[in-house]
Amino acid sequence: MLFTHILPLGISCIIALVVTSSLVRKRIYPIPLPPGPRPLPFLGNALHSLSNTKRPWLTYTAWAKKYGNIIHNRILGIDLIIINSETIARELLDRRSANYSTRPIIRSNELAGLAFNTVFLPYGETLRRHRKIFHQVFRAEVSVSYHEMYSHYANELVINLLNPTSDLQQHTRVYAASLIMAVTYGHLAGGHEGPFLTRTRELLDIVKYIASPERAVIFTAFPFIEKLPLRYFGGGLALIERSRELCPQLLNEPFDEVKAQIANGTASHSLVADFLSQAHDDADEDIIKSVALMGFMAGVETTTSALQTFLLAMVLYPDVQAQARAEINQAVRHGQMPCLDDRASLPYLDAILREVLRWHPIIPLGVPHATLDDDVYGEYFIPKGAIVMVNQWALSRDENMFPDASRFDPSRHLTADGKLKDPFASHFAFGHGRRICPGRWFVENGLWTAAAAILAVLRIDHAKDSNGDRIEVIPEFSTGLVVHPEPFHCSFESVNTAREGHLRAMMNSK
Ligand SMILES: *[C@@H]1O[C@H](CO)[C@@H](O)[C@H](O)[C@H]1NC(C)=O
Ligand SMILES: *[C@@H]1O[C@H](CO)[C@@H](O)[C@H](O)[C@H]1NC(C)=O
Repeated sequence: MLFTHILPLGISCIIALVVTSSLVRKRIYPIPLPPGPRPLPFLGNALHSLSNTKRPWLTYTAWAKKYGNIIHNRILGIDLIIINSETIARELLDRRSANYSTRPIIRSNELAGLAFNTVFLPYGETLRRHRKIFHQVFRAEVSVSYHEMYSHYANELVINLLNPTSDLQQHTRVYAASLIMAVTYGHLAGGHEGPFLTRTRELLDIVKYIASPERAVIFTAFPFIEKLPLRYFGGGLALIERSRELCPQLLNEPFDEVKAQIANGTASHSLVADFLSQAHDDADEDIIKSVALMGFMAGVETTTSALQTFLLAMVLYPDVQAQARAEINQAVRHGQMPCLDDRASLPYLDAILREVLRWHPIIPLGVPHATLDDDVYGEYFIPKGAIVMVNQWALSRDENMFPDASRFDPSRHLTADGKLKDPFASHFAFGHGRRICPGRWFVENGLWTAAAAILAVLRIDHAKDSNGDRIEVIPEFSTGLVVHPEPFHCSFESVNTAREGHLRAMMNSK
């Protein structure tokens, strides 16, 4: 979209810029780069990729058939390395992580006031400090210790979904937001449905827009683009302006509210409250603000998308749903809700969640890494400063690993005797190497508790229209850096009145 805004600027101008930049960047490599589409004169491969801006991962997956699982593509003078196999991703991003753990410098992030964004921080001291704090609140043992909180909000989610006018998009988002807000800020006056959530969504949409690899590369290639008059960029720069306004508000407002809560003695236990109650300096304060906001934004977006994908799969695959419910009913007493203690006895449910993250990867192209140094992989040269993308879509569609890959089939994650093959937290969906998602255990526990509670009480089915005909569900997904299912209709019916009654009694006693 931004690219089409730039077009009116005059192709000749762009060509001039590209020629300059490719002259500057030309380098002789000792051995060949990985194979890839031949660069086109002037515009490099830009138009090649940009002709499919909406879902570049599909193009890259198709390229794998032609060029193999590691591909080089030069776009506007920048080297992109696209990895289409899990083995190569692990070899480079995990085993050689010292070389592959930084991020491309995306000038538009800074312009948009988003320099605090943990996800795009270059490798270095600030990132280490951010990750240390994430680790304190989201590491495996700590994430499990929030089990009562997950259950509380999961129960609320089940009751909300039973409401005939319920909006599953909204309820799943509120679930994710409640969990993460409880850990980061505790309870804010606006609650998890208040303006804070609305504005973080607005900011996220901007981030997703300007940080999509193809758009970001334009800003990376032309750092001086900011000097061009705003009117050339249509909506693109207006969004950057808006982001510059939103970031300080979102960093400061919830933080200041917790401060006021501490002053009047109403603060609940949270990352920000705990930090404020200790001695600290202003630099630390900025880091905590960044970590809390980033944790909130990234966590809400991905958890919501995964939960919606789970519900979508349950409508489309009723046999899988029935098998999971049977497993729960066998392991958990009739009137009781499943809890994290039951997890080990419910491997099929765990396999479902692994399959949710595989079936439709939420971040189809991963978050781009960048190389700190030249490297050699097999017979190929990987230049310093290259953007390295793991095409999670291609990993998910690898027919050798996942036969009949477009089918939702949890049993592919189980051995013949029904044991789980791989730990959840090492799923490719969480990324690789030193940039692996630090919130993965929290996400996994939050997803598990919601899925278990939903299946224990509700049957998810096709909704019916006013004539009583069933409304078909066609799985469609949004596009961009993080994708989610397009809104779909389904119905929820209680199939366990004992558990439903138990939930309602618990809610009323609050
Ligand atoms: C304490 O401060 C918070 C934040 O300003 C405010 O929302 C809350 O109403 C206050 N509570 C009391 C009891 O003063
Ligand atoms: C990067 O890779 C090259 C080649 O494998 C190696 O010589 C170099 O030490 C690596 N750099 C770091 C920081 O590990």
